Amino acid sequence: MAFLNPYADRLKEFSSFVLNDTDAHSLAQGWHKLFSARLGNPPAKLTLEIGCSNAEFLCAVAGRHPEIAFVGIDWKFKVVYKGAKRIHRENLKNAMLVRGTAHDLEKIFGEGELDEIWIFFPDPWAKKGQLKKRLMQESFLLAAHRALKKNGRIFFKTDHPGYFQWVLALFGEPEPVLPEYSQATPVERSMRSRQIQVRRLEKDGLPAANAAIQAAFRLERYSTDYWGERTGRTVTPFSETPTLFEQLFVKDGLPIYYVELARR
Ligand SMILES: C[S@@+](CC[C@H](N)C(=O)[O-])C[C@H]1O[C@@H](n2cnc3c(N)ncnc32)[C@H](O)[C@@H]1O
Repeated sequence: MAFLNPYADRLKEFSSFVLNDTDAHSLAQGWHKLFSARLGNPPAKLTLEIGCSNAEFLCAVAGRHPEIAFVGIDWKFKVVYKGAKRIHRENLKNAMLVRGTAHDLEKIFGEGELDEIWIFFPDPWAKKGQLKKRLMQESFLLAAHRALKKNGRIFFKTDHPGYFQWVLALFGEPEPVLPEYSQATPVERSMRSRQIQVRRLEKDGLPAANAAIQAAFRLERYSTDYWGERTGRTVTPFSETPTLFEQLFVKDGLPIYYVELARR
């Protein structure tokens, strides 16, 4: 059956740096070579951003770090097309895009190809029947273990306390104390805390501690307030740059939850 998304065709304009998922599948283990050819020398690191949307954030970071190669992946054709136009406009040789799903990570990257995986504000799939769709679970994390180098990192940010709790639960951590909204007016505070209550998981929705995940990754650090607690965390190219969604959450006074996993 023919695929009708008009942006699927338009993406072909940028085929030198945007891959469709099936093309990317044949590239596994070829990313360093491809970037070396684009850059004229091998990149210092290869970083994957999952759910890069229109690549505005990716391009901002890539522009400041020409020594690092960045691959952004997103499922939606239209946002990837917008991202492709941006990469073209900004003439960023160290950025490429994949239109595909992060669930195919194992097919897209070869063993030990990646230095870092960034997962910022992934869809929370918060309803009970949807929890199984969350990216941060055994199948994806074992694929990420394979794709990352030893000591490679996964950086995860979310505005969703339930998803944050979920990741900690996989590592057998106790339920975290969530932050207060001390800056807000009483009305805002009660609205926001209601929102937080709604967003909190029922305790019986949390996954059990997972030995396979813990054998693959060390829970390096986590925070219930990414922008408030800056000491001690790894400095990264994204450290001082909020994503598009993050800018909205920060403006609303919502805390940003942060998790850093180190590949064993
Ligand atoms: C809530 S938005 C966050 C966008 C961006 N990371 C930010 O912080 O501004 C989530 C993005 O992830 C993408 N996405 C959802 N599931 C995906 C998957 N399985 N693989 C790749 N991208 C996915 C969506 O299309 C969307 O662009």
